[in-house]
Formats: sequence, structure tokens, C-alpha cells
Amino acid sequence: MATTDFVIVILAAGKGMRLKSALAKVLHRAGGRSLVEHVVRACLPLKAREIVAVVGHQAEDVTAAVAPLGVRTALQQPQRGTGHAMLVARRAIPSRAKFAILLPGDAPLIRAETLAALARAHRETGAAATILSAEIENPAGYGRIVRRDDGSVAAIVENSALSDDQRAIREINSSIYCFTLAKLWPCLESLRPRNVHKELYLTDAIATLRQKGENVQAVLAGDPDEVLGCNTRADLAAVDAVFRRRKRAAIMDAGVTVEMPESVLIDPEVTVGADTRIEPCVQLLGKTRVGAGCTIGTGSVLADTVLEDNVLVKPYSMVTSSHLSRGAQVGPFARLRPGARLEENARVGNFVEMKKSVLGEGAKAMHLTYLGDARIGSGTNIGAGTITCNYDGVHKYPTTIGKRVFIGSDTALVAPVRVGDGAYIGAGSVITKNVPADALGVARGHQVNKLGWAAARRREMAAAAKPAKSRPRKKSKRRATVRVAHRGKPRKPSHRR
Ligand code: UD1
Ligand code: MG
Repeated sequence: MATTDFVIVILAAGKGMRLKSALAKVLHRAGGRSLVEHVVRACLPLKAREIVAVVGHQAEDVTAAVAPLGVRTALQQPQRGTGHAMLVARRAIPSRAKFAILLPGDAPLIRAETLAALARAHRETGAAATILSAEIENPAGYGRIVRRDDGSVAAIVENSALSDDQRAIREINSSIYCFTLAKLWPCLESLRPRNVHKELYLTDAIATLRQKGENVQAVLAGDPDEVLGCNTRADLAAVDAVFRRRKRAAIMDAGVTVEMPESVLIDPEVTVGADTRIEPCVQLLGKTRVGAGCTIGTGSVLADTVLEDNVLVKPYSMVTSSHLSRGAQVGPFARLRPGARLEENARVGNFVEMKKSVLGEGAKAMHLTYLGDARIGSGTNIGAGTITCNYDGVHKYPTTIGKRVFIGSDTALVAPVRVGDGAYIGAGSVITKNVPADALGVARGHQVNKLGWAAARRREMAAAAKPAKSRPRKKSKRRATVRVAHRGKPRKPSHRR
């Protein structure tokens, strides 16, 4: 078909009552995208003169989903059935168009090659209508292709109108067709609502075409999965499973090891380099790009994140909108929020959270740390329990830590604050002022040792706990003296200072 003489129409106006949802059916997601976006993307390679989506229920949201892909919309209000929807689309179809490929917005597994083959078959046979049909195991819910004795198509009979004999037919109507428009329009104009829903069924036009002696063909889809429609939550789950299986197969074909593949979820735009190993129950979402030779540990979720080559993500790490350079390591149980960046060979350990922060080359933050709005130089070690106090309840402030710095455990860095190259921070410090390069910064209370205090307290508590009669009548004259090695002098215990 020349691109100038055919259009594509996507029916996307229905509510989807069987989903029992506040969200319009075609906006429900499977395989990482909305149903209607999948359908549009399958149509794009055909280069039709126009792609028209019929919208109605939540029209604005559906339009917002398809318009960025170059799709025009026609408003169907109210929604009076698939035949009515096609009549509505007519207004947006250029009069020069001779053919239309028609698809429902709720059958997202269809592939461009199958649509192209359908269009080719339609042109070759000179048919008025060509139906894409499929033989499926469980045809319940679908319209069935009823054929005459000579094998030609007689009609499509909707599920609710099937006779007992027809119920056994396994060849279903996918709701994907190619029409010669000049033949279709008169049949649609004569449609009547002959069903319980009082809708104009597009499928009734098939019988009308046949009664007029027109040529109607049905071609079987090679892969019946491609025509699965999503009318229920169970249908959505089944379709999602097919998308996920397809994507995993493509990733494995590209040289990636996927352990327990059925537990792994990978969004359509994700790329993964060869010799990467993906452990069970991993999710790779959005526009995530994973390099070669990486390992992604079990239970980890990566969204919109870049991993360069040879990155190790240990189990149960959550990484969003972050960048992990070559050789970096994170986890287990790490949380990298948007704007986290690890330079080459940097390491983040367990229970560490980062947000809008850069960890320099070879730098480490291995335990129980929060780094927010921080820049950390190469080779620096961030001790366990370090916190950048970046928020005063109103504003966020930066923390800048130089190269080869040692931050002692349990340090609080009250931003805005800078620590110069090569500096050393004593453990447990609350750093509120800048620390110059190569300096020691310590900010904590001085330690006091009260010798024997604990032992004396234990004795007093033991005495208080004894019943009165078992206590000795007289107090011992001599109080215990505890010798401690403190400047060589013996000291008496005391709980008072
Ligand atoms: C339809 C077919 C059925 C086929 C099945 C395949 C009809 C009458 N039946 O049934 O033969 O086996 O698809 O999946 O066509 N829509 C509108 N406007 C409307 C009504 C529907 O745009 O007024 C859209 C819906 O949003 C949906 C598509 O048309 O994307 C199909 O409608 P749906 O209600 O899902 O039809 P099915 O019952 O699945
Ligand atoms: Mg449907």
C-alpha cells in the first residue's frame, strides 16, 4: 500500500467496564507502557498517511498519551459502540484515503509486521474487508468467525449472541481489520443497535458486506498471543506476562544471563550489555541502561539509571535516576535517589542513602550513612553513620568534602560546610565550621571517667533490693576502696561527682 492511500484508526474511547477501574482501559499498563501506547508504536513503522485515535472516556488523558507520537484524535461522545466509533473517525480521515487498518486500543501485543502482512493480503485479494483472526485455546469473550460451508467468512458473531454450536468455534475476531473505505461507509451508516448494550457493533458490518456479495477475508495470525485483548485484570496480567517474556528473551539473546527469568521484570526501553548477570527478582525500569559485565543482585530495583561496565549492585538495592561509573559497587540494601553519581570504583555499602550527591573516584561510604547535596572527592572514606545535615526545614544546603579525607564514624556535617583535601574528622563530631585541608576537625564533648562508679552503683542497687530482715544489722565500718590505676592513687568509689 502506498503511504498516501491508507490510514490507521485506533479505537480508544471505551471505559472498560470489566476492569472496574477509575482509569480508562487503554491507559492501563502492561509490559511497562499504557495499552494504547503499545498499539500506536506497533503502527508507526507502517508510515500511514494518518493515525487517528478515537477518544471519549478520559479523552484528555488518552490524547496526552498518544499526541506526542503524532496521532490525531477524534472525539466520540457518548460512546455508542465500535461501529459508531469508526463513523466518528471518518471526520478525521482524509477523503483521499482508500484503505484503513482498524485496531482496538486494548490489544497491545500486535506487531508491525503482522499489520503489514494484513494490509498486503487485503490488497492482493482485492477484498472489501480483511479480518485478522486467530485460533486460541480459550475463545470465551471474543467474537467468533462464522464461516460458510465453502470456507468463506459469513459473519462475526459476538460472544453474547453465540448459538450452542457456534460457542465451540475457536477462530476469534481480533478486532483488527483492513477495510476498503468506500465499501465500509455505507454498511456502517446502516448499522442498527441489535444487542443488549444498544450499541452499534462494527462486527455487524461484516455480515452486511457479505449480504451485498462483497469479498471478505479472514487471515490467521501466526502467533495467537498477538491478538490478546485486555478486558479484565486477568487479561492485563496475561498480556503483561507475554511482554515481559519477549523482553527477557531479547536481553538473553544479547548475551545476558538472567537467573530465574520468570521472576525478572524489564521495561521495554531498557538495554543491557553482554556478560551482565541478572539475579532473581530484579526489576529494570524506565530508561535504565546497563553496561557489560555487570552483576545486579537479587531483589534490586533500578529505574532510569545508567550503569557503566563492570558495576556490581549487591542484593536489595534501590537505585533511581542515578549514574554508576565503571567498577562502582553498591549495596546490599543501598538506596540511591535521583542525582546520585558514583565515579569509577567508588563504593557504597549497606543502609547508605544518597541523593543529589557525587562520590569521587575510589571513595567509599560503606555503612549506615546519608549523603544529600554532597560532593565528595576521590579516595575519601566516609565513616559509618555519617550524616550530611542538608536541610534546615526550609532550605537545602551543600556539603563539600575534598580528596583523601577521612570522616570518622558518626559524624554530623551541618551544611553548608566544607572539608578540605586530606583533612581528618574525629569520630562523633558535629561539624558546623569549615575544616581546612590537612587539618584535624574534632567537635564533641570531652570524656570524663568516674572510676569505680559503676561497681558502687551495682552494690547500692543490690543492697536496696534485699528484704529488710536479711540485711546485716550494722553497716560495715569499712567502705570498699577500689584501687584503680589512675595517676597511681587509690580512689574511693562515689556516684556523685
Ligand atoms: C471487540 C469485538 C469482538 C472481538 C474483540 C477482540 C465488537 C463489537 N466486538 O469486543 O468481536 O473479538 O473486540 O478484542 O467490536 N471502543 C470505542 N468506542 C466505543 C466502544 C469501544 O472506542 O463506543 C473501543 C474500546 O475502547 C476498545 C475497542 O474499541 O479499545 C474494543 O472495545 P471493547 O469493548 O473492548 O470490545 P470487545 O468486547 O473486546
Ligand atoms: Mg476488548
